[in-house]
Amino acid sequence: MFAGSALAHKGVMNSSVKARMDAMSAIAQQMKTLGKMAKGVTPFDSATARLAAAEIAKHAGDTPKLFEPEEDDPKSEAKAIIWDNFSDFTIKSNHLEDLAVELSVTILTKKDLNSAMKSLGATCQSCHKLYRD
Ligand code: HEC
Repeated sequence: MFAGSALAHKGVMNSSVKARMDAMSAIAQQMKTLGKMAKGVTPFDSATARLAAAEIAKHAGDTPKLFEPEEDDPKSEAKAIIWDNFSDFTIKSNHLEDLAVELSVTILTKKDLNSAMKSLGATCQSCHKLYRD
């Protein structure tokens, strides 16, 4: 399951940076599962969708801890202002975690999934636009 991300992270020398990239890739992997279902590429299944949301919540919960050390790597896309605004960065991680926890219970229909994709996507964007190159 993480084969793709392992390849993508080849060349990352700093293991702390690699760990945080792996967590982000794991989140993206779950988003892909949800996205495929939302688009009808795979059939909608409430349990699978809720499990994907739970996985996102888990990794979002780890995010502040993984980013806390101010580590860098030539391959990193993290902006240095993360560590000037670490409380805001933490709030944004917590926001994703809380939302994903909620969705891990509330995605019951395809319609729920479609609105979940929007709210989740907005959360990724709100952090990336400030803190990722
Ligand atoms: C609290 C901030 C924050 C949130 C929320 C967040 N990200 Fe990220 N994300 C980052 C940062 C910072 C990086 C750059 C990490 C680095 O390169 O060191 C990143 C990198 C990534 C990467 C690239 C990983 C790699 O292999 O280099 C992917 C993919 C990604 N995020 C997906 C997502 C998705 C999908 C969501 C929403 C479901 C999300 N992220 C939510 C901060 C966040």
